[in-house]
Amino acid sequence: MRKKLNIGLVGYGFMGRAHTNAYRQAPKFFDVPYDLVLKAACARNQDAIQAFADNWGYEGIETDWRALVARDDIDAIDICAPNNMHHDIAIAAAKAGKMVLCEKPLAMNVAEGCEMVDAVEKAGVPNMIWYNYRRVPAVTLAKQLIDEGRLGRIFHYRAVFLQDWTISADLPQGGASLWRLDAAAAGSGVTGDLLAHCIDTALWLNGSIGSVSAMTEIFIKERQHNLTGKVEPVKIEDACAFLARFKNGSLATFESTRYARGHKALYTFEINGEHASIQWDLHDLHRLNYFDHRDDSLVRGWRSIHITDGDMPYMDHWWVPGLQIGFEHSFIHGVADFFQGVASGKPAHPTFRDALETQRVCEAVLKSAQTNSWQPVGA
Ligand SMILES: NC(=O)c1ccc[n+]([C@@H]2O[C@H](COP(=O)([O-])OP(=O)(O)OC[C@H]3O[C@@H](n4cnc5c(N)ncnc54)[C@H](O)[C@@H]3O)[C@@H](O)[C@H]2O)c1
Repeated sequence: MRKKLNIGLVGYGFMGRAHTNAYRQAPKFFDVPYDLVLKAACARNQDAIQAFADNWGYEGIETDWRALVARDDIDAIDICAPNNMHHDIAIAAAKAGKMVLCEKPLAMNVAEGCEMVDAVEKAGVPNMIWYNYRRVPAVTLAKQLIDEGRLGRIFHYRAVFLQDWTISADLPQGGASLWRLDAAAAGSGVTGDLLAHCIDTALWLNGSIGSVSAMTEIFIKERQHNLTGKVEPVKIEDACAFLARFKNGSLATFESTRYARGHKALYTFEINGEHASIQWDLHDLHRLNYFDHRDDSLVRGWRSIHITDGDMPYMDHWWVPGLQIGFEHSFIHGVADFFQGVASGKPAHPTFRDALETQRVCEAVLKSAQTNSWQPVGA
């Protein structure tokens, strides 16, 4: 019999559903050495969280995250609430000796992030931040190809994350589902929301960033606030673009906006090395484009690798070759890796400490835009 591990989830929105699906699926497809029990789900609205718990199979509910964290029968707290909740819940959970899984970005800022890293490390509890794109098999394959040295010296890293959902000036800010537009809940705009994903992937694939030079813009300066009913200044950046120098000498550009008409979630990156280049695109997430200059010149060209064979990352756990998987599987892989790491003592990444580096880059980017200057990424 596998040991039971009881999960306590905070937040039942987009990520609450993605994670819960992952807890249910991971042990069926992967060798997860625990019996993961959906013990309790938590949110403030009792009817809504009860309906969520009934639908997804949680044994119980809580309406105050403090009560959830205080329960003796919860082993792991999973934080799927807005960014301004991460710090307090994670620290309380670590102090209570729980494992902590927390959505990205780690925190509202570096100062909060440092306290969170201290808390989980002092408590010695397993911890992970859900930068899930690392576990899209095509992205994991990109990491493998880079680590094998196939690209050679890396010259360029280019990433974009484009959306178009906030163009209307009538869209209010704040409250349920629009907390991303409220600086008090989100901390920052596209930088913490979208670029944080690009930065996490980039640090993982290409190492540390030394310095950044950024520009940001708020296109719609005022919006009705759902919580106060008043028209208030918008304090989150709608768009951000920055240049970066990696410590390995490569140059990078990153761009994110919620004003790219026609794009819903276009996350792409391209890496150009001495021998080879790779490209990835979230809209076609199960393919990796690869160009290798060392190929015979008569057949040299970009190849589109469909990641379905059993020797591709994670794919021996899924269907037969030729059949692909999707976005939700990146979370299933996260659950499998995290709990295998708990059992083996080799932690899954990114840990809170790994995610602090992304937070430092985000903070340097925002400071650079404010001061119109290059900024070093703090240690
Ligand atoms: N990894 C990814 O790809 C990804 C995608 C989307 C969001 N996120 C992150 O996940 C987190 C949640 O985002 P979302 O899109 O799921 O948001 P959402 O608005 O869909 O859901 C937020 C949930 O938090 C709950 N909540 C808010 N305040 C609470 C409180 N005080 N106590 C308990 N519950 C509370 C709400 O009831 C809601 O269920 C954010 O940090 C976000 O940045 C990550």
